[in-house]
This record gives sequence, structure tokens and C-alpha cells, in this order.
Amino acid sequence: MAKDIEILGDKTALIERGLGLVEQKIASAIQERGQCTIALAGGSTPKPLYEALAHKSLPWEKIHVFWGDERYVAPTHPDSNEKMAREAWLNKVNIPASNIHAMPTGAGNPAVDAKKHEQELRSFFSVKEGEIPIFDVILLGIGDDGHTASLFPQTEALKVRDCLVTVGNKDSEPRLTFTVPLINHARCVIFLVAGENKQPALGQIFAEIADEYQYPARLIQPQGDLYWLLDNTAGAKINY
Ligand code: 6PG
Repeated sequence: MAKDIEILGDKTALIERGLGLVEQKIASAIQERGQCTIALAGGSTPKPLYEALAHKSLPWEKIHVFWGDERYVAPTHPDSNEKMAREAWLNKVNIPASNIHAMPTGAGNPAVDAKKHEQELRSFFSVKEGEIPIFDVILLGIGDDGHTASLFPQTEALKVRDCLVTVGNKDSEPRLTFTVPLINHARCVIFLVAGENKQPALGQIFAEIADEYQYPARLIQPQGDLYWLLDNTAGAKINY
């Protein structure tokens, strides 16, 4: 699917558009398959979207929430993506606890927890080794360096093709992350990007030619729909 690039007037408009798109995709997933599986982005950009979802009346029992990546910290740690989404949204709605599938970070070994989460995904989606689950929606952001999820430039995680979840590394800091094949199997991937600091990376991500291992977001070419929602500052220099 060709990428759909939208440059919104400001960050508020970006979040509004993202909210509308997420609601639309949730509704169509439930209508077509009886449930919706959505994987969340971490970082700061999506937080207002999660806060807005907390005010929506949705069939929460039919919505299963995952994370596309996680810092390797306890869910009580201020850096935890799980903590952010629970406090902004999930703690405020009547979603069954069993519908929240956080990435485990308690084994003291990221590779062990990555494998554990992979097993949870395989069990939930009823897919065996060699098969790849299809998420209805995966939300992503990009860093100033062009990373997405915890797929950082020039790291081994970018090359993993035989797992669903692997260990990413931001400098020496371990992370858990969905792999490129898992993200690219999604029915819909939505990038939410705001801020002038993202302009250089976006220029490389959208360039005709650039090193995809230096700008990992270039590797995200899902079989389903791909939306790039940019605010006016991030998208100021994008010709599309
Ligand atoms: C994370 C994210 C990461 C994030 C980008 C953008 O765990 O930090 O998953 O990929 O989306 O770094 O972060 P901001 O939205 O804070 O700019």
C-alpha cells in the first residue's frame, strides 16, 4: 500500500486526526473480526491521543492492547511505556485486565522476556513458529535519529526476521521491540510525528534513496495501510 502522508495544522490537529483514524480502525476491526488488536507507541507524542481515548465510549471488552516496544524497566518506572498508557488511558476505562498485554520486563534478562512475550503473542493469535500475527493497528513514532519502536540505527534488531519480538538497544540501554516483519504484517500502521526536531529524519525517511539501516523507519512498509500523520513543524519541509 502506498503511504498516506498528511500534514496537520498543529499538534492538536495531529492528535485529533490520529484519534479519528484509530476509532475508525477499531470499529472496522470489531465489525469484521469481532475484536481489535492495537499495539501502542511509547514516547511523548501519543500521550494526548491516549488521554483522548480515555474519554471515549468504546466496546473495551473487544479491544486488546499491546505495546510495540518497551523500555527494559519495571512498569512502575517513570520511563515505562506501559505506565504512561495506563495512567493516560487504560486505568480510566472499563477494559478487562486480561485485554492488556504488556511486554514483560521482570526476568532480569531482556532476551528471556522477549521470548516470553513472543510466546504470549503466538498463543493469543494462535500462530505457530514461522507464522506471523496480523495486528489490526500498530501506532509508531520516530526519533530524531529515524528509529521507530525500539529499532535503532545500525543495530542487530533491524535484521531479525525469524522472531516477533527481539531486544533493541538504545546505546547501551536494552529495550524490547516488535520486529520489522511483525510490524509489516499489520493491517494498518499509523506514524504520529510532531516537532521541528523530526524534520531531518523525515527528510531521509521519505528520500528516494537513503540507508534504511541508518533510518530504520524506512523499513516499515506494511502489507496494510500506512499513514504518516505529521504536524506542521515536523512536515514543514516535506514535498509529497
Ligand atoms: C519509545 C518509542 C519510540 C518513540 C520515539 C518518538 O519507547 O520511546 O516507542 O520509538 O516513538 O522515540 O518519541 P517522542 O514521541 O517522545 O518524540
